[in-house]
Amino acid sequence: MKVRLIMGLLALAGLGLLAGPALRAPAVALAAEGDLLAETHKAGGVGCADCHEEEPPQKMTPTQKCLGCHGNYDELAKLTMKVEPNPHQSHEGKLECEACHHVHKPSEDRCLECHAWGYKVP
Ligand code: HEC
Ligand code: HEC
Ligand code: HEC
Ligand code: HEC
Repeated sequence: MKVRLIMGLLALAGLGLLAGPALRAPAVALAAEGDLLAETHKAGGVGCADCHEEEPPQKMTPTQKCLGCHGNYDELAKLTMKVEPNPHQSHEGKLECEACHHVHKPSEDRCLECHAWGYKVP
């Protein structure tokens, strides 16, 4: 009886140790680097139908749709002006967003095929 109680307490203490750090993590961690764009958009109030015209969603969202909210390539280039070299203004021209940004899976760095600029693509 007594042994069981001690085992139970130990088990609870163990759970506490595992769950503790995650539960105590600050709320900001939710928007941490590495979040999928699907989550960033959801948090920004963008719903499935804002990107997907078809119901249920099936197809990749065309670049034109992304630009509908994010402006044009010149405006994007201004946003990332301080990034060297600018990922939105290069000899590769006006790439599809999907060349780098993915929504439901981690994004990628298209330039990495030839250069290692060390981009962290959101
Ligand atoms: C910011 C625009 C955006 C939003 C918001 C969005 N999607 Fe997508 N979705 C995409 C893109 C782009 C793709 C192509 C694959 C990728 O980039 O992950 C895609 C692909 C898909 C696919 C095809 C399978 C796949 O993963 O390739 C499904 C199904 C899907 N989305 C469902 C949803 C649902 C359900 C929601 C809402 C909860 C949603 N999407 C919200 C842009 C979006
Ligand atoms: C309906 C409007 C809308 C559409 C369509 C849309 N976005 Fe967004 N996007 C937003 C909003 C709102 C945010 C979050 C607020 C902000 O930071 O501007 C955001 C944020 C982002 C960010 C910044 C994320 C970060 O962590 O800093 C990227 C990158 C992005 N969107 C790319 C895309 C791509 C690629 C597509 C097309 C597949 C797309 N968006 C389609 C509205 C939109
Ligand atoms: C060559 C890869 C690449 C392509 C293609 C690309 N981006 Fe980006 N994008 C990046 C990188 C890298 C960043 C992060 C730059 C940084 O470190 O601040 C970024 C950042 C962003 C941001 C956040 C800017 C900010 O600082 O607020 C938005 C929004 C965005 N991209 C939208 C788009 C849209 C929309 C398209 C398609 C029209 C697109 N991007 C095409 C690489 C790319
Ligand atoms: C298919 C290969 C390839 C891809 C993909 C590629 N580049 Fe390049 N890039 C080159 C070559 C080749 C040169 C010329 C090399 C030289 O002059 O040393 C170059 C030169 C450059 C230069 C000027 C020279 C330097 O090293 O400073 C910049 C900046 C640059 N690329 C940026 C980009 C960016 C940003 C992307 C992604 C959007 C990209 N490149 C994708 C092949 C590529």
